[in-house]
Amino acid sequence: MLYTFLYIVVRPDASAHQRAAKGVLWTVLFGLAKTCQYGGLTILGVEGYRRLKSFFGYKTNNIEQMKKVIVISTSLRRGSNSDMLAEQFVQGATAAGHDVEKISLDGKTIQFCKGCMGCQKLGRCVINDDVNDLMAKVLEADVVCWATPIYYYEMSGQMKTLIDRMNGMYVQDYHFREVYLLTTAAEDEPSTPKRAEAGLTGWIDCYPKSRLVATLFCGGVNEAREIEGNPKLQEAYELGKRV
Ligand SMILES: Cc1cc2nc3c(=O)[nH]c(=O)nc-3n(C[C@H](O)[C@H](O)[C@H](O)COP(=O)(O)O)c2cc1C
Repeated sequence: MLYTFLYIVVRPDASAHQRAAKGVLWTVLFGLAKTCQYGGLTILGVEGYRRLKSFFGYKTNNIEQMKKVIVISTSLRRGSNSDMLAEQFVQGATAAGHDVEKISLDGKTIQFCKGCMGCQKLGRCVINDDVNDLMAKVLEADVVCWATPIYYYEMSGQMKTLIDRMNGMYVQDYHFREVYLLTTAAEDEPSTPKRAEAGLTGWIDCYPKSRLVATLFCGGVNEAREIEGNPKLQEAYELGKRV
């Protein structure tokens, strides 16, 4: 076989048939060589990709899934029940690997909106208090979680005031896509937080790339810290963990 091959390949006075056979042989051998070459590269490539992915995959996936979460706790009461729900949400979201910041409105200066509409030109409020910093944080977040006590079947006044004052967001790009609402009230009737949910939905509707993902209501808690030991705290933790 090898002799025939060499005879055909090297012989200068080969006939037309022999030259044709030589051509076919070259084509077959060249084809085989290339198949092995590319086959080998493919195997190396697939294996290499698999190894690189397993090396970097864990970190890459984690970074992709990590969200910036802002939790705005609006009760000003010491031992606030809604703040404790918020804290559990924070713990859950942190355990899930997210970048979480909780901000309490306690101690913040937030004046009423004057309705001047200056924010629509400036992208920030003309009143110089704590709102512009808060607004910047909300704009950067992927997830916004509000926690509020129910006051007269609505969200707290301080939460509504902050929402109004962040009107400058309306003319800006925003990151948040997911919104959560945590509420507490003295009454246990499931309809108790409905108006607060509707009010927040009014805000969310103005940011159409976002949606209200979930609400959590803990009724039957009136006194400060009365929520301690309530199973709703674990639910808030689980909710945060699912962000
Ligand atoms: C001004 C005010 C209005 C309230 N209105 C209601 C209400 O409409 N329905 C209700 O069930 N509880 C009402 N409550 C009770 C609170 O919702 C309840 O104490 C809640 O746990 C407070 O949450 P916090 O501890 O986070 O502030 C009201 C409390 C205050 C101070």
